[in-house]
Amino acid sequence: MKKIEAIIQPFKFEDVKSALTAAGIEGMTITEVKGFGRQKGHKEIYRGSEYTVDVLPKVKVEVVSTDDKAELVVSTIMQSAKTGKIGDGKVFVFSVEEAYRIRTEESNEKAV
Ligand SMILES: Nc1ncnc2c1ncn2[C@@H]1O[C@H](COP(=O)(O)OP(=O)(O)OP(=O)(O)O)[C@@H](O)[C@H]1O
Ligand SMILES: [Mg+2]
Repeated sequence: MKKIEAIIQPFKFEDVKSALTAAGIEGMTITEVKGFGRQKGHKEIYRGSEYTVDVLPKVKVEVVSTDDKAELVVSTIMQSAKTGKIGDGKVFVFSVEEAYRIRTEESNEKAV
């Protein structure tokens, strides 16, 4: 199993959620987060010096899938979250060792 963790623009969340649902993904976790990438957040010039003003709000989407669906999850997020402008976000993929559905006590591939 894999965990796909995507940091996306908040205004793209509805598009990403719809695309993942259409692709057959049945569960996800969403967190409102803040962060910065290589532009180091928004910058402005103040009295001739450049200051980092803030970290920017982003949405983190986490999906755990079977290995065979992971590529589809990644490509679906990549397509639906893209504007082509800076700050579009990142996708990270992790290996997941175990998963359990608490209600039924199913495990691993049957639990995701
Ligand atoms: N190396 C990283 N580790 C953890 N989180 C990151 C990393 N890079 C980016 N992020 C998260 O992703 C968000 C969006 O990053 P962003 O898309 O600006 O990356 P970037 O590398 O600057 O690419 P771009 O040049 O397209 O803006 C950041 O606000 C941060 O929350
Ligand atoms: Mg950036």
